[in-house]
Amino acid sequence: MDIADIGLIGLGTMGSNLALNIAENGHRIAVFNRTPSRTHHFVETAAALRDRIVPCYSITDLAAEIRPPRPIIVMVQAGVAVDEQIALLQPALSANDIIIDAGNANFHDTVRRFSELSGTGLTFIGMGVSGGEEGARHGPSIMVGGTRESYARVESVLTAISAKYKGEPCCAWLGEGGAGHFVKTIHNGIEYADMQMIAEIYGVLRDGLGLEPKAIGEVFETWNEGRLNSFLIEITGKILTVHDPETGRPVVDLILDRAGQKGTGRWSVIEAQTLGIPATAIEAAVAARVISGMKSERVAAEKAYGGPERMTADGMIVPALELALFAGKIAAYAQGFAVMDGASKEFGWNLPLATIAKIWRAGCIIRSQFLDTIAAAFSETATAPNLLMAPAFVEMMKEAHPALRAVVSRAADAGLPMPALSSALAYFDGYRQGRGTSNLIQAQRDFFGAHGFERIDAEGAHHGPWGSAA
Ligand code: 6PG
Repeated sequence: MDIADIGLIGLGTMGSNLALNIAENGHRIAVFNRTPSRTHHFVETAAALRDRIVPCYSITDLAAEIRPPRPIIVMVQAGVAVDEQIALLQPALSANDIIIDAGNANFHDTVRRFSELSGTGLTFIGMGVSGGEEGARHGPSIMVGGTRESYARVESVLTAISAKYKGEPCCAWLGEGGAGHFVKTIHNGIEYADMQMIAEIYGVLRDGLGLEPKAIGEVFETWNEGRLNSFLIEITGKILTVHDPETGRPVVDLILDRAGQKGTGRWSVIEAQTLGIPATAIEAAVAARVISGMKSERVAAEKAYGGPERMTADGMIVPALELALFAGKIAAYAQGFAVMDGASKEFGWNLPLATIAKIWRAGCIIRSQFLDTIAAAFSETATAPNLLMAPAFVEMMKEAHPALRAVVSRAADAGLPMPALSSALAYFDGYRQGRGTSNLIQAQRDFFGAHGFERIDAEGAHHGPWGSAA
């Protein structure tokens, strides 16, 4: 049997699909899973690709079956399991072998792993992979962090298995160290905001206008033909039309209104806060998932206060919802990209924002037409301080923000929660207000703590003549 080009550890949903994708692209792949029966089952069900898969039942076998220098993808649960696999791999590997962590790692762990492996002769890559099961099997978006040289060694296999947008691979080297995992984290933060804003609009259609799932699904299907065209809008339209075979009811009506989270959304918010960059729509989306978990408290509070009211339907509301969602999306993406820009400067990554937008155009969960517009904006104006100031986005936001304002205010009147969309609006309004209200905050800080303030008409630090008022 020929020796394998690459190895993979962890035959869960993502790992097994990635392995099949690699095999399908002509590479011989050695695979290992901690539970041997899973490895056996994987090979038995690999059908035509079976000949390119080498099942291994120990780490030593895995190492022996791959041509050195060995690239080995680790696709296990993020956290300690990754450290355990690295510890097991180390004695079996030799100089120049590459360990590629393809899970949703916290980039701080990735940075630590780089430093722990430095001087061992082994190479490490922290790689974000997006696209779920289908993406892993037929083409995910791949965000690579590590040295440029190590990427060059695995570039051909990674670009081959990645999604393609009009023939361009959705895979790129984004920077040293934790750059790839950081970008994947922010991808997920944006994913949280996208999903939450879609859910808020669904709430208006369901509770404000009293539409049935099928009718709401049709609205999303129509929107998917226009400026909101994206994977998440597409699947929302599909989800809303599916019926439960047992009860005949729409499945979405049978699903508990409580969404879990694995961590990447929260990490996005923590990193944004640490960097001092507002990511309020992402923050609101993470908080909304937490509130969703407080089911019994919410039910009790609705009894105490009453719930949302119906809106008066008019012909304007549905088109306004589409535009409002688009405006919210612009603000959320502006925040996500601003966080990446801030991190890039803080960690010296030099993140290529246009390239990031490009490799998100296909394969990943937030893939959309819109990302092509973002890629073009960053290619043309690499120096725009915020996406909101890129000329194309100024035009789009000018058209869309009145709808966001109308929808948020009508939802507030009806008592319908819009945490992400209203945060997006407040962010936009704060960002575009030349003279804000922090003059008063400065005065308050000086009044109670003598923190000083700046004046508009003189240089330096000043104190107020609070005297008698104090
Ligand atoms: C992707 C997804 C993927 C996964 C998240 C969901 O890009 O393919 O983002 O990473 O679906 O784990 O995260 P939550 O469980 O936190 O919603």
